[in-house]
Amino acid sequence: MDILQSDRLLYSILIAVIIMVGGAALFYYMKALQHPAEIQQADAGEKQDLHFVLIPQETENDYWRLIEEGARQAEQELGVAVEYNGPKKTSITEHIEWIEKGIASKVDGIITQGLQESAFTPVLNKAVRMGIPVVTIDTDAPSSERAAYVGTDNYEAGFMAGKALIEDTGGTANVGIITGSFEARNMKLRVQGFRDAVQEESGVAIMDIKSSEITRIQAAEKTEQLLNEYPEIDAFFGTSALDGFGIASTVQQRARTNSTYIITFDSLPETVKLIREGVIDATVAQQPYEMGYESVHLMKDLAEGRTVDAVQHTTVHIVRRKDLPVSESLLLPKGGTR
Ligand code: BGC
Repeated sequence: MDILQSDRLLYSILIAVIIMVGGAALFYYMKALQHPAEIQQADAGEKQDLHFVLIPQETENDYWRLIEEGARQAEQELGVAVEYNGPKKTSITEHIEWIEKGIASKVDGIITQGLQESAFTPVLNKAVRMGIPVVTIDTDAPSSERAAYVGTDNYEAGFMAGKALIEDTGGTANVGIITGSFEARNMKLRVQGFRDAVQEESGVAIMDIKSSEITRIQAAEKTEQLLNEYPEIDAFFGTSALDGFGIASTVQQRARTNSTYIITFDSLPETVKLIREGVIDATVAQQPYEMGYESVHLMKDLAEGRTVDAVQHTTVHIVRRKDLPVSESLLLPKGGTR
């Protein structure tokens, strides 16, 4: 073979290879165009065998967004799939429907609140009997067959709020309480803990309690009503973040900031701002990110047949203005603990 011939042969081989590779690429591209969803699903199926749902009381709430963030961190670490879905605004009926949907789709685990024990226990037990493990988060339903609870000890947290109020007011206060709900178990426990903490303190009187239905507008309105009915009120206890915001806005409007003590729950950025401004005096900081993170780890343990502790309380701290410079990072830690 002379040089010219061997060049021609090489050239033909090269053309053949290009045609083959190009043809194969075109074939797979056309196939992908025809069945993109199926292909994506197959990929996802390979990566994530376990599919959990996280159903909060309301999806568009900053506190729950932090729980979601923690869950997403664990989702990445563990290679599972977590779906965050539920009512946009608190509704027990809708919340239960979302749990039913989870059961019908045969998810591998349900993470949710036991918001009202009597209403939630039947549907939580139904999930468990269908072989779907349940972890309660933020609010427990201890008499249900849930495998575990992760979240605040709500009675203890309310008790701590009561003791902080006594400490900060020197044991003299006429208190109005604004609570997110008269029905929600976590709120009831916080109020009970608070009542028990101040019970023996003769200078502390609880004047009245009103519900905000977890809206800041109603929290502001109910604060207004309380101040009209009991002008002697000089302290407020708000049992959730939005209650604190509502109380703060009415107290500010009435120019009573200096003469009114406010203790609330949670340490969202707006809460921290109001503490810095001296409007809110103290808050019970929960660990929502940690709850979300831990709940997904627990779920994976359960789905893989490991035994877990039935109750996992996350920490709470009382945060006042003087604590802010040193403990801001303690408010919403973003790292998982495992
Ligand atoms: C409670 C949650 C509630 C949230 C609403 C938190 O303090 O722990 O149960 O959904 O407030 O803002």
